[in-house]
Amino acid sequence: MATRLFHISDVHFGVENREALAQVEQAIKAERPDALVCTGDITQRATHRQYAAAQEWFGKFDVPIWLDPGNHDMPYFNLIERFSDPYRRFNTLRASVAVDQFETEDLVLTPLKTTVRSQNRWPWSDGHVTWSAEGRTLDALRRYEGDPRHLIVTAHHPLHGPKIGGPTDTIRGNEVLGILACEGMDAILTGHIHKPFDEARSGPEWHTRVIGAGTLSTRLRHGKPPSYNVLTCVRGEKIAVETRVIEAT
Ligand SMILES: [Fe+2]
Repeated sequence: MATRLFHISDVHFGVENREALAQVEQAIKAERPDALVCTGDITQRATHRQYAAAQEWFGKFDVPIWLDPGNHDMPYFNLIERFSDPYRRFNTLRASVAVDQFETEDLVLTPLKTTVRSQNRWPWSDGHVTWSAEGRTLDALRRYEGDPRHLIVTAHHPLHGPKIGGPTDTIRGNEVLGILACEGMDAILTGHIHKPFDEARSGPEWHTRVIGAGTLSTRLRHGKPPSYNVLTCVRGEKIAVETRVIEAT
């Protein structure tokens, strides 16, 4: 048996691509993946209406759902709430439709928070791995030290630059990628850039995969159509990644 994950990202409810969502919904119901992972930017502006739309869509499925927050998922217009309780709306959605833990005989999922309420740079859209966020993920990975299953981290922002140690948009991204890989991270699933990818990264004592899902929104970038990934994971074998491009109808 294998574990199959549907990995979607950047749905941006409010400017969602309804045709794309309809196709994904049909595939989930037909194929019944073991889990549906969404690596953030669930909404466009984190409004109550957009979160309600997300809740309605994710609530359709009877497969485990795993959600990470993206930079678009913190209040944009209500700055008081953004600073005082930035994840309240996201956490309400997650408590309603998603699971806190997911593991099978093939894999374990572990979240990494890459979003922050503000940054010492503008815009605030790119990632920043804080020391505390890194610490929480490291603690989680260490609990599975020596575990033969795939240890898969999920986050909104890609950590890697074009080269090891090269430029990355995520503050402390490259550094944390290596640290997590040294603790056994086999792969990290991310979104944010609206472009699918699947690459290997390695350092002197580590090796990992960086896997990104495209968008299911109408915010298309890099000339890339909407898409999502299907991961097939078998313990002890290489993770297989299929990118499914949404065909316009
Ligand atoms: Fe994003």
